[in-house]
Amino acid sequence: MTSEEIRRRFLDFFARRGHKIVPSASLVPSDPSVLLTTAGMQQFKPYYTDPAAAERELGSRNVASVQKCFRTSDLDAVGDESHLTFFEMLGNFSFGGYGKKEAIDYAHNFIVKELGLPINYVTVFAGGNGVDKDEESEKIWRGLGLTDIRTRGQDDNFWGPTGNEGPCGPTTEIYVRGMEIWNLVFNEYYCRPDGQLEKLPTPASPASPNRGEPAGRLGVDTGMGLERLAMVVQGTPTIFETDLFVPLLAKLPVALPLRARRIIADHVRGVINLVNDGVRPSNKGAGYILRRLLRRMMAYGREVKFADLLFNEALVVFTQENQQFARSLAAGLRQLEQFRHLDAAAAFRLYETYGLPFEVIREKFPELQAGEFAEKFKEHQAVSRAGLEKKFAGGLADHEPATIKLHTAHHLLLAALQVVLGKQVKQCGSNINQERLRLDFSFDRKLTDAEKKQTEDLVNEKIKEDLAVIHKEMPRSEAEKIGAEMEFGQKYGDIVSVYFVEDGQGKIFSKEFCAGPHVARTGELGHFKILKDEAVAAGIRRIKAALEN
Ligand code: SER
Repeated sequence: MTSEEIRRRFLDFFARRGHKIVPSASLVPSDPSVLLTTAGMQQFKPYYTDPAAAERELGSRNVASVQKCFRTSDLDAVGDESHLTFFEMLGNFSFGGYGKKEAIDYAHNFIVKELGLPINYVTVFAGGNGVDKDEESEKIWRGLGLTDIRTRGQDDNFWGPTGNEGPCGPTTEIYVRGMEIWNLVFNEYYCRPDGQLEKLPTPASPASPNRGEPAGRLGVDTGMGLERLAMVVQGTPTIFETDLFVPLLAKLPVALPLRARRIIADHVRGVINLVNDGVRPSNKGAGYILRRLLRRMMAYGREVKFADLLFNEALVVFTQENQQFARSLAAGLRQLEQFRHLDAAAAFRLYETYGLPFEVIREKFPELQAGEFAEKFKEHQAVSRAGLEKKFAGGLADHEPATIKLHTAHHLLLAALQVVLGKQVKQCGSNINQERLRLDFSFDRKLTDAEKKQTEDLVNEKIKEDLAVIHKEMPRSEAEKIGAEMEFGQKYGDIVSVYFVEDGQGKIFSKEFCAGPHVARTGELGHFKILKDEAVAAGIRRIKAALEN
């Protein structure tokens, strides 16, 4: 059975049972609290609390779809037998139209009768967090002859909400060949932004005395990954031997390591679909995810002819990104060549400075441990989070290229002021947006025109020298010992993140405690210009400055 036939049989099955077939929504959801569509229920979220709207807008309380989905949470797992970033999800949904009994019956019927697959076992919610054990689902499964029914807790068998609030509830999962293939969610609750669960009214059951009253709001939301289902239906050892991947993998050089081939295949599908839904590479949000996919593809597939795999707009986007990234990638690979030994911390710096993916580094240093690298990554994330919360008042990093450049210029400016005015100059505050930077520093008089010009010239000189911006993590005591700049009045953790601007021969122009992000080389900054110099308080001056192209 081809994957196309599986899609068709799924939709037909539910259409025959009174479901309206709804097309896939975009990968970019209208809900601003979620970055990308991660589940079939995403486009139906409002209907769980307003079933009448489903009838008005969709013409039915019961619907089915094949939804394109993207999950960044699985990015690092891609390459094993069954994880993907981009996948398609088959799902049936009900907004007060039916309950657990029908949902479980349908799923059982489709798997066992329609597809002829044996169910290994199912799981039901064990209870917890103020929610009872799901006895009802267990009873329904027993009634269908299932004997292996396992109970699982909050982490495995409770769904949602997506975004910061929404419908949620216990789940029951179906396992075939030892693999979870179908997740049935019963949205009995609404999770408020403060995390409180509110019980939703359940539909009037035919046997209850409320018979005849309008159905309540219990929701059904089921999701089954097409790729995994194709794997069990087609009896392949991994998702990559299914018809969804074979033609794509056939175009990749056989000499590539298996994991690299799988990663490229996954990312190619992701890139095509993200670009198709209007995403373009950038340093934030969905654009940043697209950029990561593109760069990982380039790093893993240096011998791959991507023009054979991508087409139209996706190929244009790829080519542009490749032009930008090729230099940094080549520089990173040159750096890599210079190492005889490499520990996890150094590997992480290569990743962070040049974008070299871990596996590419490990090709040369097979002894590197993925776990240790992941540790460095986690440490860095913790440090970044702590630092960013301080740097950007809103607690959110601004990853726009213009802001990143100004951030590096900010470091150069502080170092230049210390050369021109003296080491007593200390940073007391900062603020950066896409247009300009603002630096507050300790100094007790107005700068002369000559001093301003000298400062400006020095920053521009350092930009011309195209110095490397290098990131290191170290114990705070060590960073203090080497005299890294820290902002007055700030508190820092035990492990700190420090950015160095240096010429490659060990001559350091600037070193600052900072969470980043920064450009890789100062040559990217353009022309630096001081816009304004003013007093903010006794002994504190403020400079506003910008970069011009
Ligand atoms: N929302 C659930 C999931 O994505 C079921 O569709 O697993």
